[in-house]
Amino acid sequence: MEIPENIFKAKEGEVVFLAERGKTYILIGLGKKKDFEPVLLLNVSAKLGYEIRNREIEEIFVFVRKKFKKKDVLKIYEGIMLGNYRFSEKKEKENKKLKTINFLNTRIKETEFKYSEVLVKATYYARDLSNTPPNIATPSYIADKAKEIAEKSKNIEVEIYDENEIVEKGFNAFYGVAKGSKNPPRFIHLIYRPSKGAKKKIFLIGKTLTFDSGGLSLKPGNYMLGMKYDKSGGCAVLGIFSVLDELNLPFEIHGILPACENMPSGSAQRPDDIIKAYNGKTIEIISTDAEGRLTLADALSYACEFKPDYIIDFATLTGACVIALGNYTAGLFTDDEFLKNSLLKASERVGEDLWHMPLDEKLKEKIKSKFADVKNSGGSQGGAITAALFLQEFVDDKIPFAHIDIAGPSSNAKFWGVNPEGASGFITRTIIEWLKDLNLTVKSGSKTKKD
Ligand code: BES
Ligand code: ZN
Ligand code: ZN
Repeated sequence: MEIPENIFKAKEGEVVFLAERGKTYILIGLGKKKDFEPVLLLNVSAKLGYEIRNREIEEIFVFVRKKFKKKDVLKIYEGIMLGNYRFSEKKEKENKKLKTINFLNTRIKETEFKYSEVLVKATYYARDLSNTPPNIATPSYIADKAKEIAEKSKNIEVEIYDENEIVEKGFNAFYGVAKGSKNPPRFIHLIYRPSKGAKKKIFLIGKTLTFDSGGLSLKPGNYMLGMKYDKSGGCAVLGIFSVLDELNLPFEIHGILPACENMPSGSAQRPDDIIKAYNGKTIEIISTDAEGRLTLADALSYACEFKPDYIIDFATLTGACVIALGNYTAGLFTDDEFLKNSLLKASERVGEDLWHMPLDEKLKEKIKSKFADVKNSGGSQGGAITAALFLQEFVDDKIPFAHIDIAGPSSNAKFWGVNPEGASGFITRTIIEWLKDLNLTVKSGSKTKKD
């Protein structure tokens, strides 16, 4: 078939549909760059997947360039699948879905797609849960999802603390946030134990606010819309756990989701309150809208009791991080060289942008309280950094710790990168890739720590 030049310039991400004799031919532009980097292939194919989704196409036949290697084709597959995602569970009429992708001129065995399928499956899981509206996805709904994951796996167990147990255990910083809502909180602790001995112990902690109204420091209406995505950190943790069996990693991996809803009511926490966190530190509440760090404070000090090798948290923590980095980049806060380098490397490969932010000790002064050990807001200047400094107060400084503020890229109103509108599942693929890398590093005996 002749391709009319005037309608297709092969610009990066350009998609053109041509209909001829009852068939639709789709052309996809790869742009001018000579090297087809994995992220370029991912993004361009995601655009294709998205256009296909919008046209409700059910089967496609893909011809790839001769020079493409196996790994390139896998990126094309991942891209198409990630861009093809739609959250439409709640519609009366289901949209037609893409059922089959046929690669015509490459020889890749079914089994070789496995890792790519895992990345897609975990991301879909995280997106589906994060997109689920807050009247359905309550803390107990999230706990049920965690149970479901544990029930399906012989290597995963789950412990769920209900409201009474949360109070009994002294998770007061977490409970302070939760107590204004009629939907009771759940503290969720998942544990994956490998079949053979574990070489590392890793904690993944996700901010899980099923809705963040701001509490008594109520958000103005247009800032409140979209706060169902405030559970995206926890959803990423569950997305990762949903595929751990398939990854077969030699690590003991813990997932912690302090799941609750931040609502204003007669039983809600007030600004001016002072609470005693799980580790004994007292916190003066300045804003009930700076709630994520309170829920994470208890989760972090609880995690430290298990003496892990690494703790990483993902959280839609601050609007300030979105102001600093925009919608497409997450902030990475860590003092640990290994975590910094390895997380940046993993994220680069999957096309999720992380930017290493400074943990400027000079800003610590902003979260000093006259009446308590620390206060929960340091104001707007350097707001993402003071939030990270606050979290550090609850982590044993000998344990390598990274905090990733995903407030910007966790959701978006329109298609970007590999993400259709809504929840992106951001960080899920980075962490899976990071775990895979860590396995190789441990196997090769390379250093993961400064000695
Ligand atoms: N969930 C928000 C942060 C957020 C903002 C996520 C925009 C996604 C998009 C968080 O709980 C919050 O409200 N943070 C406050 C902190 C402030 C009161 C110190 C903020 O960033 O405004
Ligand atoms: Zn908030
Ligand atoms: Zn929040």
